[in-house]
Amino acid sequence: MNEPLFAVRPAVEADIPAVGAINGYYVLNTVTTFRFTLATNQELLEDFRNITKEGLPYLVATEKASNTIVGYCYTARFRPAKRGYRPTVELSIFCSHQHLSQGIGSLLLTELLRIFKEPEKYPNICLKQEPDDPGVRSIVACMALDETGPSGGLALKRFYEQFGFEQVAHLKAVGFKFNRWYAFESRCRIRQHGIQADGKVKG
Ligand SMILES: CC(C)(COP(=O)(O)OP(=O)(O)OC[C@H]1O[C@@H](n2cnc3c(N)ncnc32)[C@H](O)[C@@H]1OP(=O)(O)O)[C@@H](O)C(=O)NCCC(=O)NCCS
Repeated sequence: MNEPLFAVRPAVEADIPAVGAINGYYVLNTVTTFRFTLATNQELLEDFRNITKEGLPYLVATEKASNTIVGYCYTARFRPAKRGYRPTVELSIFCSHQHLSQGIGSLLLTELLRIFKEPEKYPNICLKQEPDDPGVRSIVACMALDETGPSGGLALKRFYEQFGFEQVAHLKAVGFKFNRWYAFESRCRIRQHGIQADGKVKG
């Protein structure tokens, strides 16, 4: 059997400039992020510290041969200023534009979901921080609908759906970048057994 070419591990502060370089390409060239300007390393470092301080996962994928970072993913609190949204986190996942469709995104997301499934096996992960904290129940993935993207925009939908994310929202013409409007969709994966995408409890 061939040795895997890529590995996934928790990110450390020294990885952040490489994360910024991957993200920068998408900021400047695509609508996979609605930022217009590059994030500074300091901003990215603060995000990294906030996410990991919260006990949420932040992962990088490395190419084993060169030990370079070729992708990253993390979850951050969804609307963090509003406490009622604490059970929900938002996914960000990006692979280097020179390494797409090589299984790296799947590797990252598989590991991320494994962490959410069995957080007790990961000493730095803490999904419940206070006694009245219900923990993380939903992971939301948001995307602009970009018919100029791979497979007319369907590739990204397919990617999320393969991992059990179901469409829960479609917001018409809420994003504006490169002089045109974009609709925005959210897909949600419920980690807590028995809770459906519509929030009802099964059975
Ligand atoms: C989406 C993404 C993380 C998937 O990771 P990947 O390593 O390229 O994909 P994998 O090889 O693990 O899996 C392949 C699947 O990913 C999706 N995919 C592949 N390239 C893609 C791309 N450029 N854009 C969107 N989805 C893509 C397709 O569904 C593909 O399945 P298919 O081969 O049946 O079409 C990666 O393509 C990426 O970083 N895209 C650009 C940034 C982005 O869209 N991030 C999501 C933010 S909303």
